[in-house]
Amino acid sequence: MEISKIATGGGRKLYIETYGCQMNVGDTEIIVSIMQQEGFIYTDKIEEADIILVNTCSIRDNAEQRIWGRLKEFQRFKRAKRSLIVGIVGCMAERLKEQLLEREPIVDIVAGPDSYRDMPRLVAAASAGGKGINVALSQEETYGDIRPVRLDSNGVSAFVSIMRGCINMCAYCVVPYTRGIERSRDPETILRELREIYAAGYREVTLLGQNVNSYRWKNAEGEVVVDFPRLMEMAAAVAPDLRVRFATSHPKDLSDRLIEVMASHHNICKAIHLPAQSGSTRMLGLMNRKYTREWYLGRIAAIRAAMPDCAITTDLIAGFCSETLEDHAETLSLMREVGYESAFMFKFSLRPNTYAARHMTDDVTEQEKTRRLTEIINLQNELSIASNRRDVGKTFEVLIEGFSKRSDKQLCGRTSQNKMVVFDAAEGLGAGDYAMVTITDCSSATLFGELVK
Ligand code: SAH
Ligand code: SF4
Ligand code: F3S
Repeated sequence: MEISKIATGGGRKLYIETYGCQMNVGDTEIIVSIMQQEGFIYTDKIEEADIILVNTCSIRDNAEQRIWGRLKEFQRFKRAKRSLIVGIVGCMAERLKEQLLEREPIVDIVAGPDSYRDMPRLVAAASAGGKGINVALSQEETYGDIRPVRLDSNGVSAFVSIMRGCINMCAYCVVPYTRGIERSRDPETILRELREIYAAGYREVTLLGQNVNSYRWKNAEGEVVVDFPRLMEMAAAVAPDLRVRFATSHPKDLSDRLIEVMASHHNICKAIHLPAQSGSTRMLGLMNRKYTREWYLGRIAAIRAAMPDCAITTDLIAGFCSETLEDHAETLSLMREVGYESAFMFKFSLRPNTYAARHMTDDVTEQEKTRRLTEIINLQNELSIASNRRDVGKTFEVLIEGFSKRSDKQLCGRTSQNKMVVFDAAEGLGAGDYAMVTITDCSSATLFGELVK
């Protein structure tokens, strides 16, 4: 046997906690796959862990604060088991590098998002009493050949990473620094994964990337042979009853061709997450988003014209550098104009080393950021309820995910628009089945309905 093939895990138990976005959730599944290959055993019980990994997020300061707090809590596990290894992986590891080891002595391993193939060696270094650190970013790594071990899955819907990194350099954002340059995954490996998922019973897949619609796979000559609309067509062709979703798309890359492909495939879900960040063209310029309010609204009009039933959701930031009351009012008016189904809404958090940190002033007070965010959240609640009320009386195709949280006499599942529907269970229907459901009532977060007989 080659030396490299000898399993180094030796049955030691690996526990891993995940923070941040879906990309991190996907990465955790890749880490577990790599570690299992090496003879480590996954556990969801922290008490029995020999290795604790924390897959971290740096997007806002409060995300990092949570992780520092969590590390303090790990001290008691380390006291109870001196051989315990604690590793910080993901975006915060990449951002802080050696500083993590200096600031928190219980940390043994620091591994950035492109170094997961190196995890077994890093664990070996830590087991030998040293520290394991690898924060090299790659221009090629996509983990395309690795079969993720699906954790915490409902067995119906799965996430598949199709690209990594980001080069957009939005002025507020750490992602280009923590995840490196944008690169796309070989479409053959993506399609293979989709076929395997389908064969395993999954009926919905979300294609993931920080800027998923700029996906492009080039041949040896450097020509783009598969772009995002083409990849969507290929994904939709895997099986007529495999739903395809994607997240997150950047407005600047939302092409007419993509809209056309979405509109012409029943199993491509009618839902687009299109982060606007702000409704003010002046702020969008400062944020380096590369579009104006008018241009964004033009994209919304194109989506509505081709797919009147398409749900549109967004991300919004309150209180970016120099944001005035007029700019803020434009965000509120954009929200009304689009009528978002739902939104992720954040207070601006200045991140070290970003363009904003180097060249701008974080001059909106914390109190004012909170006030503006509250206005945005209140308005979105109104819009979400209004959107749900419009669905009452309509009939939707629902992909059942399982029993509802409250009762096993009710099933829950999602519409193509990604809204959760709860309805009475019926003989012969279960997770992974499709059902036609007429909506009879709603709350702000959920639709309630009846099966069409
Ligand atoms: N790649 C995705 C989003 C990545 S981060 C995209 O471009 O759409 C998710 C969201 O976090 C962003 O859309 C943005 O709204 C928010 N965000 C990013 N950096 C932030 C910061 N410094 N402060 C507050 N919110 C931020
Ligand atoms: Fe960050 Fe902008 Fe890239 Fe999204 S597109 S990850 S907000 S830099
Ligand atoms: Fe956070 Fe990194 Fe995702 S910073 S949002 S975990 S890409």
